[in-house]
Amino acid sequence: MFLKVKRNNPGVKVNPGMVGLFFEDINYAADGGLYAEMLENRSFEYLSTKVEKFKSPLTAWAAVGGCEMTHRTYDPMNAVNPGYAHIVAGAGGGIANRAYEGCYLEKGEEYRFSFYSRGKCEGKIIFSLVSGYVTVASAEFEGAAEKWEKREAVLTADKTVYDAEPRITLERGGELDIDMCSLFPKKTFKNRENGLRPDMARALADIKPGFLRFPGGCIVEGNGIDNRYRWKDTVGPVETRRTNWNRWQEGGVGVTAPDYYQSLGLGFYEYFLLCEDLGCEPLPVLNCGMGCQYQCDETIPLEELDGYIRDALDLIEFANGGPETPWGAKRAELGHPSPFGLKYLAIGNEQWEEKYFERYEAFQRVIAARHPEILLISSSGPACAGKEFEKAWNWLADKDKSFAFAVDEHYYVPSRWLFANTHRYDDYDRSGPKVFAGEYACHLGPAQPRPNNLEAALAEAAMMIGFERNADVVHLAAYAPLFAREGFTQWTPDLIFFNNHEIMLTPSYYVQKMFGNNLPDHTVEFSCTHEENVYVTAGVKDGEVIVKLVNNSPRSHMLNLGCQGGTAEYLTAEGPHPRAVLEAKNTMEEKYNVVPVKESFDGGEYTLRPFSFTVIRFK
Ligand code: AHR
Repeated sequence: MFLKVKRNNPGVKVNPGMVGLFFEDINYAADGGLYAEMLENRSFEYLSTKVEKFKSPLTAWAAVGGCEMTHRTYDPMNAVNPGYAHIVAGAGGGIANRAYEGCYLEKGEEYRFSFYSRGKCEGKIIFSLVSGYVTVASAEFEGAAEKWEKREAVLTADKTVYDAEPRITLERGGELDIDMCSLFPKKTFKNRENGLRPDMARALADIKPGFLRFPGGCIVEGNGIDNRYRWKDTVGPVETRRTNWNRWQEGGVGVTAPDYYQSLGLGFYEYFLLCEDLGCEPLPVLNCGMGCQYQCDETIPLEELDGYIRDALDLIEFANGGPETPWGAKRAELGHPSPFGLKYLAIGNEQWEEKYFERYEAFQRVIAARHPEILLISSSGPACAGKEFEKAWNWLADKDKSFAFAVDEHYYVPSRWLFANTHRYDDYDRSGPKVFAGEYACHLGPAQPRPNNLEAALAEAAMMIGFERNADVVHLAAYAPLFAREGFTQWTPDLIFFNNHEIMLTPSYYVQKMFGNNLPDHTVEFSCTHEENVYVTAGVKDGEVIVKLVNNSPRSHMLNLGCQGGTAEYLTAEGPHPRAVLEAKNTMEEKYNVVPVKESFDGGEYTLRPFSFTVIRFK
């Protein structure tokens, strides 16, 4: 196979931030996931759900050692999260938290524990982390005051364990109200308090993402307008962030997760910090006055939309305003006087037809007038073709260029669709809005769990080759969803799987990483012999040629590049027959079946492996 790169014939400029991340609290991605809080239902609030049978404010808590535990809301610590536990315990009695699957503690590491209490107990209040019969770490607090009082301690684990049970017990018994209990590893990503799991956040950083889209997804819309994501509920002291139920309690894919709520401890301020720590652009998505159109038909009348638009303006001020502005002052008070530099804002998630168009227009009018610098992103609905999709693009056809900077397209599609659509953007109108491929993934089959295998990864890589070749149209792209906790998953496939102590990176993850780490400044023209099932793009960065190729065939190809050697990184797998190669995947037990391999080559020839994605770089 012959490939001639015409390095002096530039093609299109590539947005250096094109490859980004989509984060949604689905599959326990936030609480029980990236958000490093170890306790589950820490403030006894699992009450708010619309699904009556899922209401259970004491979820994840159990009485231990002779204790009576009840849920109360009378005279609460704060009115926003009114629930707390009232316990009447004998000596040694108390309560224990399930902590999802138990806490992972590392020998010698420190953990911050805090809780609020009031009541009567003469002896000590003991917090302990217990694995089997062994206490791995503990702290003691003198009695309790009559009024709510915050108690804090730092504990050191004297053993590595995977299943520690957090317990609050009373040495000599007593009667106590307990609220807002929290346990964090001291070691978080960038050592931030109220921070993130370092292993999970590091995996994101390794992609070198250009942006982070947050907080979703359907969670933005909510299952009913009451359940929508309200960013203002997610900033400020964590105990005052109103717990919301998670709309993925009922996922629409036949899975129920009755214990799935949002503590919102990972809120908008933390998302902005994460973007800063990852060196990427924040891309928040706001509710546009509509619930999830799949699940409900709740829409806020246009004349009542002001509050929603206000939220958008306040968000811009929170992110970018000076400390003299009310929301800029709030950001400064939280510890970040300098602005976050918000550039993108998406209005609505998967919304469609006139109801959406009218609401988007109402947002756009106000935001464009006050903040022309903000690049707005509009929705094209949940599908990447069909009546609603066409309508969304047609609606934009006669609009001014600044009306929508980009259109959010979503596709969860089989591998054959992705391979057949690598030229999808070749014919897009270059004078219209740009494309934000805001959610995409290869879905192999309708049944859950859908596999995260090499076949899916190669199909995604081929599609991304199409993105790169059309980078003048495709400005941003993000695989979705990002995270899934094993055993707590409502949606597959996902990019990264995890449990309480480790992560597993999928072949799709490596494709994102290989793209994110090898984006050219611009594409270049190239000519190559046509080979069926081989997909190619070429570009240049800092004088170096970067070629990306997917070989979706069982044959290897000798590639004649006409260079004097270079480096290559390839992703493939081994197997006794082609199907086995395509079905190869990583698991928690076998994490390295499909991982990229780097090598260098001399001379102008390089052998492209069967069923592989390869990035070649040469001077
Ligand atoms: O990524 C999972 C879901 O898929 C998102 O929440 C939604 O936008 C889409 O339907």
